[in-house]
Amino acid sequence: MLAQILWLALLATVLVLLIIAPGLRRNYPYVWWCLLGYPATAVRVRVTWRRLTTNLGLAVAKRPGRALLGDLVVRGDPLKPVPPRLGAPKLRRGGLDVRVRLHPGQVPDHLLSAVEALTHAWRVHAVRLSSDELGFVTLSALAWDPLRAPIVPYQLKQRALRVVVGLLEDGRARMIDFRRAPHWLVVGATRSGKSTLIAALVKELAPQRVALFGIDLKGGMELPLFEDRLSALASTRAEAARLLAELVAETEARMQLCRSVGARSIWDLPGKLCKLPIVVIVDEVAELYLMATREDKAEVGEISTNLLRLSQLGAALGIHLVIAGQRVGSDLGPGVTALRAQLAGRICHRVSDSGTAEMALGDLNKDALAAAQRITLAEQGVAITADTDGQWRRARSIHVTPEQARRAARKYARLAPAWPGLHVDEPTEGVYL
Ligand SMILES: Nc1ncnc2c1ncn2[C@@H]1O[C@H](COP(=O)(O)OP(=O)(O)OP(=O)(O)O)[C@@H](O)[C@H]1O
Ligand SMILES: [Mg+2]
Repeated sequence: MLAQILWLALLATVLVLLIIAPGLRRNYPYVWWCLLGYPATAVRVRVTWRRLTTNLGLAVAKRPGRALLGDLVVRGDPLKPVPPRLGAPKLRRGGLDVRVRLHPGQVPDHLLSAVEALTHAWRVHAVRLSSDELGFVTLSALAWDPLRAPIVPYQLKQRALRVVVGLLEDGRARMIDFRRAPHWLVVGATRSGKSTLIAALVKELAPQRVALFGIDLKGGMELPLFEDRLSALASTRAEAARLLAELVAETEARMQLCRSVGARSIWDLPGKLCKLPIVVIVDEVAELYLMATREDKAEVGEISTNLLRLSQLGAALGIHLVIAGQRVGSDLGPGVTALRAQLAGRICHRVSDSGTAEMALGDLNKDALAAAQRITLAEQGVAITADTDGQWRRARSIHVTPEQARRAARKYARLAPAWPGLHVDEPTEGVYL
């Protein structure tokens, strides 16, 4: 009797869950995933594994596909192919992880070519593969695209020069950490999300003790939003050339200072000599390299050399670059490839020419390049991001509106240190900040 009641209760629960499933999925996707999506997908993973791996040629026969019958060699298909051993599918936020033990002779690349088929068979948004132990791979299935409407986990402890600017596909916070990767390259076609990412970056850096500088030659349309928080904003090439020369002078003064007290970087300076970190944001770098006349050539040469010097010397001296552009290619000038080599942090939005994607990611990882080329027009703000750990990830920036950025810049305007250089006739050599 009791057993019957329990069965009935179980049946009723399952029925109720099935009835409310569509609404649950729409409004509380994580609850839906835990209650229904995950168990169903876990069963699907186990049920389809043998057939899938056999069809994809990943299962191997323990016995050879031929046998001897007396003197006769009998050939045939292996009777019982054995699939790579599958662990228990583990629940994680918005997805599941499952460990696979590779057969001898198999490498993770063999499974990499199968992830598309796994995605279809398991009916999930995407399957990613990683291998952190020899002989094993972990397949991570994502139930839906977490970047469609990113909810950024803010519980992360903020640290100087490390800010959360979006969400990674695996649900973790996407950070720009200038102490790990001192300089960043941000590329993307028009309306792909570069300025929105810069707005998120400025909004998060605004409350920190850091001096922000802007170079915006696109008619000064994007960075002036944050002008209240910027110590200087260059909106013509002549101003940009001057600002960069001043920043190089600042770098040299800092270097001298470090040398005089025997410090290896500004972070090692004693308290009273401590220097403010500086972040220089360049929106549309190609404008800096455009040459129309012969006079332009000298100015472009100077800009290119100074940018390169800042990127080479700046990391230890607390001077950081964020260089954004629609098109960044070696055709802009010889200095660009050398500059790229110094920009360890890379962010590649949807691009309209393969040369730019190649410039941003080609020297790191071919997979990343292919993933960047798959970003669609509708996926504004989605980008492939890579930094010093050699791994790439798909991510989306927080959608910071121009108004939110302007408000944050105004709120923290008092934290913008004065930079007399750009506005005085005879800039003095030396440490301003
Ligand atoms: N993370 C995001 N989430 C949602 N929408 C976004 C996101 N990032 C950008 N967008 C949308 O894309 C539009 C264009 O973005 P943005 O101005 O940042 O592009 P851009 O790459 O700077 O373009 P341009 O090269 O023309 O300056 C924004 O107005 C916004 O509506
Ligand atoms: Mg822009």
